[in-house]
Amino acid sequence: MADSKQFSYDGLFAKSAPAPRASGGAAKRGKYDFAVAYPDPDSIPFDGLMEGLKQGLDEEGRDLALYAPPQGYGPLREFITEKMARDRDIHVTPDDIVIGDGSGQPIHMLLEVLVDPGDVLLTDDFVYTGTLSQMRRFQGDIRGVETDGDGMVPDALESAIQQASGEGKKPKLIYLIPTFQNPQGWTMPLERRQAVLDISQKHGIPIMEDDCYVDLRYEGDDVASFHAMDDTNSVMYVASFSKIIAPGMRLGYLTAPPELLSRALAAKSGGSANYFASFAVHRYVTGHLDGHIEEINDIQRAKRDSMLAGLGENFGDKAEWSSPEGGLFLWLKMQEEADLLSIRDDVLDSHDVGYLPGPNFAPDGVSGRNCARLCFGYNTPDEIYDGIAALAQAFEQQGVL
Ligand SMILES: Cc1ncc(COP(=O)(O)O)c(C=O)c1O
Repeated sequence: MADSKQFSYDGLFAKSAPAPRASGGAAKRGKYDFAVAYPDPDSIPFDGLMEGLKQGLDEEGRDLALYAPPQGYGPLREFITEKMARDRDIHVTPDDIVIGDGSGQPIHMLLEVLVDPGDVLLTDDFVYTGTLSQMRRFQGDIRGVETDGDGMVPDALESAIQQASGEGKKPKLIYLIPTFQNPQGWTMPLERRQAVLDISQKHGIPIMEDDCYVDLRYEGDDVASFHAMDDTNSVMYVASFSKIIAPGMRLGYLTAPPELLSRALAAKSGGSANYFASFAVHRYVTGHLDGHIEEINDIQRAKRDSMLAGLGENFGDKAEWSSPEGGLFLWLKMQEEADLLSIRDDVLDSHDVGYLPGPNFAPDGVSGRNCARLCFGYNTPDEIYDGIAALAQAFEQQGVL
């Protein structure tokens, strides 16, 4: 082929384009993979999903020829409203729901319609990376608010709002994962929720409630959702099938007041969430979801207990960790000088243990070097126990334990 001058995209990127992201090869995973919040791979209900898909295709498969309404598959939206009413005391209609590509897309849609560059966004001091990167994508001024074992500290929230106000800014929203928080594992008790809600309402700042893990409860009682506690339309709510069926299904959902939902819907790309997956999930969850959740929670409880036992035996009083009542991870805190970020790759190479260090979850991108999130969803209980022993050995060799 003759030499051809290759086209260059230099200078063409939009000013608001995100920074490049590496494509291709997945990040190296450890044998003991405590890095990513996977659910248990062996309990994905393949047979039930296959059957559900077949039934859905038999009954409505011809609809795949159509471009479906962007809010998503109606019967699945109906199921979601019934589940939300029963489990979370949230009473909305299927018209108030948008199904998205996981709950990540609904979060993106909300941020897209709410956030201008420089807007102050309040989050927990360590918080889910996916939302943080979307907030950065829209150039929010993300401010982490101090938390303790019960979640966001109300006085600290009040101070953060006052500080923004002193700068002439009113925060745009407060993002909360009140149940089995990612990455810290705590659940915010009712009184704390009420205190945070009171502050948000007093200042007229909406809450984005992310209830992604709420069904994965291994002990204790459910706590009311912010959405159910609020009677002023100031809470938007997202949740997902990722952690109770599988992330690969890519189905999550959003409910918000109509004026916001209609704007978010306008920001939704790609039309309706996948109908093919929606058929399978809808037919499967109808009548099977409760049993399935019970089953996976028994499995995950054993995994959590194994990780807690391993930590108790290998880390003793040389570290602190959260003891979550559910979800998929806990938060490990080593002595102040430990730098779990700089040793992460060595630990992975030498001992085959993966984890995510604190700065991944910090709004400032640097705090929390002595902390790490440890997920217990993927490995078996025995592997988890061995993996924690290997982690302790690696930390000892690195001089942080
Ligand atoms: C707190 C939280 N919210 C949202 C998501 C997004 O998940 P998905 O898009 O698969 O529903 C995750 C995924 O790990 C998460 O931890």
